[in-house]
Amino acid sequence: MTTLAINGGAPVRASAYPSWPQTNDEEYVAAVAEVVRSGEWGGFPEPGLHGGAFEEAFAAYQGARHGILMMNGTVTMEVACKALGIGWGDEVIIPALTFAATAYAPMAAGALPVIVDVTPDTWTIDPDLVEAAITDRTRAIIPVHLGHQMADMDRIMDIARRHDLAVIEDCAHAHGQRWNDQGAGCIGDFGSFSHQSSKILTSGEGGTLLTSDDTLAMRAHSIIDCGRAKDPDDKDYTFGANYRLSELNAALLEVAMRRFPAQQEQRAIAGKAFEAMAAQIPGITVMPADARITRWSFYNYILKMDPEAFAGRTNDVVCEAMEAEGIQAEVQYPAMSRYELFQPSLSRLPVAVEYADRLDPATMSFPVAEAAGDRESIYFMETTFRDGEQGVRDAADALAKIQANAGELPQG
Ligand SMILES: Cc1ncc(COP(=O)(O)O)c(C=O)c1O
Repeated sequence: MTTLAINGGAPVRASAYPSWPQTNDEEYVAAVAEVVRSGEWGGFPEPGLHGGAFEEAFAAYQGARHGILMMNGTVTMEVACKALGIGWGDEVIIPALTFAATAYAPMAAGALPVIVDVTPDTWTIDPDLVEAAITDRTRAIIPVHLGHQMADMDRIMDIARRHDLAVIEDCAHAHGQRWNDQGAGCIGDFGSFSHQSSKILTSGEGGTLLTSDDTLAMRAHSIIDCGRAKDPDDKDYTFGANYRLSELNAALLEVAMRRFPAQQEQRAIAGKAFEAMAAQIPGITVMPADARITRWSFYNYILKMDPEAFAGRTNDVVCEAMEAEGIQAEVQYPAMSRYELFQPSLSRLPVAVEYADRLDPATMSFPVAEAAGDRESIYFMETTFRDGEQGVRDAADALAKIQANAGELPQG
């Protein structure tokens, strides 16, 4: 008899999770309508009324002096590199398990992403490997606060100080997180946040850079505003382009910011309950958030599965079965070595050819990130954690059901 929904059985969860972004909140509609009527749709002059208000509110919430709002959470990192003077021939160290944007951004600024593996207990950048990868061309580190974890910012900042490197935190998953009571994105030189549709502080598209350095903030504002001078004493344009965000998006972010603290608390409570339930499932390893995370605020919650306990099936097959059971679960990221993007033969970047040995996937080996992407990682989406105890119980029940009946799963 078939029990798994992927084979035609009844799903564990028949009703939908709460929508994300929130489609039933009239305050969002009113905020956009007001901008439409005002006629001030664009982001010029930069920052706009709503853009500036959101920058201030978000920077204060995280604990930075400045926020710089722009088009997305990829150009944020490109702009950060440019504001730091990072360009042609420079090297920027990034983790092997992240979204392609983390590598694309330094490349777009002209630099070479040097990729290192992640730690087995958090799947964030391995500080020992960062230190080993430093050369006299290294200019910056981009740690990624992945899923429900943060990179070890104590070690990263210590390495950066000793080697005189900049740190750009990729916080696309980490709005609201705090490390030793310091906000994510406020520990390094820059923090980069995404406001793309799926993210926990969203306006459909958008990104914010945080910094507490006045000069870096001014440079970043200038770069995203076609190079317009931001220092009143400075008449000259700098090298920039139009990366401004529209006021329509900014108005959505202002509402989202007001909703955010309560949503973050709700997710954290549900996340703890989910951890306790998931830890009971054979073959599932819970990777508890680092104890130095003093406010826990996550975008995805990531579990580790052992294919042996799932009749040899891998994470992609399990995620497909979870979807059939009514639970949104994904294998978000393959290891960086699996992307064609980093093959010098396909790249027109001169540095990619010059440093072929450091970019060629044939010479890259990231055992931890590869195991995570190829076999072990299961990402649970934010909406799972906004439907109270029942929301996470359904997710845990579905995973337990799949594990118990893993022999029924397709071969993948
Ligand atoms: C880790 C990480 N960095 C950067 C980004 C890029 O953000 P955006 O889509 O806003 O460009 C994402 C988006 O998914 C991400 O997950």
